[in-house]
Amino acid sequence: MSDVQSLTTTALADIAAAPTLEALEALRVGLLGKSGRVTALLKSLGSLPPEARKAAGEGINRARDAIGEAIAARRAVLEAAALAARLASERIDVTLPGRDGGMGVVHPVSRTIERLTGILRGLGYDLADGPEIEDDWHNFEALNFPPHHPARAMHDTFYFADGHLLRTHTSPVQVRAMQGKTPPLRVIAAGKVYRSDSDQTHTPMFHQIEGFVVGEGVSFAELKGTLKALVRAFFERDFEMRFRPSYFPFTEPSAEVDIAWQQPDGSTRWLEVLGCGMVHPNVLRHCGIDPEKYTGFAFGLGVERFAMLRYGVNDLRSFFDNDVRFLGQFA
Ligand code: DAH
Repeated sequence: MSDVQSLTTTALADIAAAPTLEALEALRVGLLGKSGRVTALLKSLGSLPPEARKAAGEGINRARDAIGEAIAARRAVLEAAALAARLASERIDVTLPGRDGGMGVVHPVSRTIERLTGILRGLGYDLADGPEIEDDWHNFEALNFPPHHPARAMHDTFYFADGHLLRTHTSPVQVRAMQGKTPPLRVIAAGKVYRSDSDQTHTPMFHQIEGFVVGEGVSFAELKGTLKALVRAFFERDFEMRFRPSYFPFTEPSAEVDIAWQQPDGSTRWLEVLGCGMVHPNVLRHCGIDPEKYTGFAFGLGVERFAMLRYGVNDLRSFFDNDVRFLGQFA
């Protein structure tokens, strides 16, 4: 019995001092495990004289229970400490400032589209849309380019095997926006167009803005006034502008618009910025609008050209290189 007593005293002291859950488990195995010391004492009961067995058995069982409870109590303390340590190490200070991911900027082409369409919407135009994969009728035929018309050659068209094509200009949106509608109409469209062409001033994909007005008594004077207002509002400057006779199949008469652009040395140079004209009667007819009753004007401009002039960019391709050092300048 004194063996049991001293074993228990040492065991309880060891358990109370166990520094970790692993150390505690080692103690448990050494005491209560299959070949532990308490287990060994229980096994040795058989060798005692029968009269002594009962008292000895009760003593060992009490020791086993006391040791078991002490282990459970110590385990609870160690587990609580481990949990507290883990919570402390994983603590997140939600009041710390967040990591700065950097603010993105609107792409200069999108920004230019937003500015131009914003000005035109202010002048009462509605926004229309059309597909980038077009058919020949909308892109050419309805716009008064008959098959084999030489002006088609200027468009360097990307064709699909089934005869569809990537629209070469936004003018087909004119047709889509006119069909089935009754004038007055005042519409703009902005979007991507495609031509098989690539150098410092041409990319195979670029952006255009198209605008047109159809109604009774719509005149070339109104077209001039509109484009002057648009260019002045966009560049926030007054320019000398000239309307130079030109040719487009879908307008008659047609003009290209030049602005007197100030050079670094102070001199001015004529720069072409727009195509325009009075909507050709054939186009109105193709869209189901009576050219005897209605007239219209239309204009189309290259978005990148406006962006290059406004922001002083000299290589068109830099808009599409996606170099963040270039794009970041437009913050
Ligand atoms: N679609 C022409 C082009 O891509 C631009 C254009 C010229 C549009 C005259 C028009 C216009 O609406 O009236 O070259």
